[in-house]
Amino acid sequence: MKSYLALVAALTAGTVALAAEVDVSKLPPAVKKEGVTFDKDIKPIFEKSCFKCHGPEKHKGDLRVDSLEATLKGGENAPNVVKGDSAKSTLVHSLARLNEDEAMPPEGKGDPLTKEQIGLVRAWIDQGAK
Ligand code: HEC
Repeated sequence: MKSYLALVAALTAGTVALAAEVDVSKLPPAVKKEGVTFDKDIKPIFEKSCFKCHGPEKHKGDLRVDSLEATLKGGENAPNVVKGDSAKSTLVHSLARLNEDEAMPPEGKGDPLTKEQIGLVRAWIDQGAK
């Protein structure tokens, strides 16, 4: 019943309301760094901040971020990463806490990522998410 109501609400609100939910102009800019890769630059950040819920043991939201393949595959609302377009990637919206309901790590469940870390994730996605 709850999900039925949510569906009706989503359909009624329509795409305009969904698009208005996040203001991508508030995203920290991508860092200026060449050759950013998942294994070298991103995995260590996710290991520290995300693995306890999206790692080898737990897959909250049906998502794992402990490998490049799993991160690109995404979770319940996949895809979360749009290769080449970090501003359209919901994973980045979550990190930048544009919408508190979908902020990652969730409120009170870990330190928010720094602007520098978010900028690095953006650079990685903008460079093709390799
Ligand atoms: C304390 C547990 C916890 C931590 C830590 C955490 N998450 Fe989550 N994450 C969740 C839960 C629970 C969901 C399911 C949706 C919800 O209930 O908000 C979720 C959902 C997501 C989703 C949406 C997946 C989908 O397709 O629906 C993304 C993307 C995500 N998390 C990314 C991250 C990233 C990246 C980190 C680390 C910076 C992180 N999360 C840290 C608990 C966590």
